[in-house]
Amino acid sequence: MKLYLAPLEGITTMTYRRAYERNFGGVDRYFTPFIVNKKLGAREIEGILPENNPGQRLIPQIMSNRAEDFIQVAKEIATYGYDTVNLNLGCPSGTVVSKKRGAGFLAYPDELDAFLSEVYDKCPMKISIKTRIGLEDENEWENLLSIYEKYPMEELIIHPRLRTDYYKASIRMEAFAKAVEQIKVPICYNGEINAAEDVMRMKEQFPQIDRIMIGRGVLRYPYLFLQIRGAFEKETKVVAAEQISTIEMSQEELKNSIRTFHDELLADYQIIMSGDRNALFKMKEIWCYLGDSFEDAEKCLKKIKKANHITDYKIAVNELFSLNLKTF
Ligand SMILES: Cc1cc2nc3c(=O)[nH]c(=O)nc-3n(C[C@H](O)[C@H](O)[C@H](O)COP(=O)(O)O)c2cc1C
Repeated sequence: MKLYLAPLEGITTMTYRRAYERNFGGVDRYFTPFIVNKKLGAREIEGILPENNPGQRLIPQIMSNRAEDFIQVAKEIATYGYDTVNLNLGCPSGTVVSKKRGAGFLAYPDELDAFLSEVYDKCPMKISIKTRIGLEDENEWENLLSIYEKYPMEELIIHPRLRTDYYKASIRMEAFAKAVEQIKVPICYNGEINAAEDVMRMKEQFPQIDRIMIGRGVLRYPYLFLQIRGAFEKETKVVAAEQISTIEMSQEELKNSIRTFHDELLADYQIIMSGDRNALFKMKEIWCYLGDSFEDAEKCLKKIKKANHITDYKIAVNELFSLNLKTF
C-alpha cells in the first residue's frame, strides 16, 4: 500500500513536511498545498526547492482553469527537477469555487474537458488529478468519469464527496466504487482515514486499490502511517526478527516522537516566521488536530489556544504532554 500525505493549505507547509519526514517518515508521496499563480512567487519557490524538502518524493499541486497558465507554471516547476504535477479539482472554498477553480471547475464539464485535452496534449510533465465527485449532485460523477477516462493521467486521487459536502458529510462510497470499476489508471482513495483498521477495511472492499492519501488523520495521529505499515507487516508476517513493528511501540516512545516533532516544528517556525506570534498561530492550528491524540486534553488545549506568549504556550504544551495518548 502506498501512503500519501494529503496537502493542507497553511498546515502541510515545507516546514511541517520536513519535521514530519525527520521524525516519522514512511510517506511515499508528499503533495504541496495548491499553487494558484501563473508564475511562482518567492514563497512558492522556497516551498518546492528540493533542498528544502530533503528525502521527500514531493508532487507540487497546481490549481487553475486555464490550460495556458497551468502549462506555464508546470514548466517552471519542472526547472526545479520535478517530472510530475497534480491538478486540484477538489477545493470547496467559496472564493475558489466562485472563480471556477478547484471543485468549482467540476460544474463546467465541457470546459474542463477542453482544459484537460489541451493540458494532456501540450504539458511535458506527468499529471495526476485530485478530485471531488461533483459540485452539488452525485449524478454529475458519471459524466466527470467519462471525461477522466479519456486522459493518460498519472493517477486519479478521489475524495468521494461533493463540493457542498465540504469536509464533514458522509463519504459517498458508491461513487468511489463506480470509479474503481471504470477508470483504468491507478486510483488513490482519500477521505476520513483515521486508523489502520480503516485502511484494512478499504483494502478488503477494494483489493485493487494500492494507494491511499491521508490528511487530517495524520495531523491528528502523526504515527498513523507507521501504524498502517505495522498492520500490513503483521498481516503479511514479513517482519524481520530485529524489526520492531511500530504497532508495538510503547506509549512513551510514541509520545516522545510527537514531542520531538512538535519541538522541532515550533523551533523551525520561530526561525522562519517573523515573530513568535505568527509561529504561535501556526502551532495553534496544528493543535486543532494533534490534540485528538491525547486523552482528556480539553483543558490543556484551551490553555494552548489562550496562550499569547511563547512561554505560556510552552507551559501549556508541557502540561499536555503529561497526559496519556489515546489507545486504539
Ligand atoms: C485546512 C485544509 C486545507 C486543505 N488544503 C488543500 C490543498 O491545498 N489542496 C488539496 O488538494 N486539498 C486540500 N485539502 C483537502 C485535503 O487534502 C483532503 O482531501 C481532505 O482533508 C480529506 O482527507 P482527510 O479526511 O484524510 O483529511 C485541505 C483540507 C483542509 C481541511
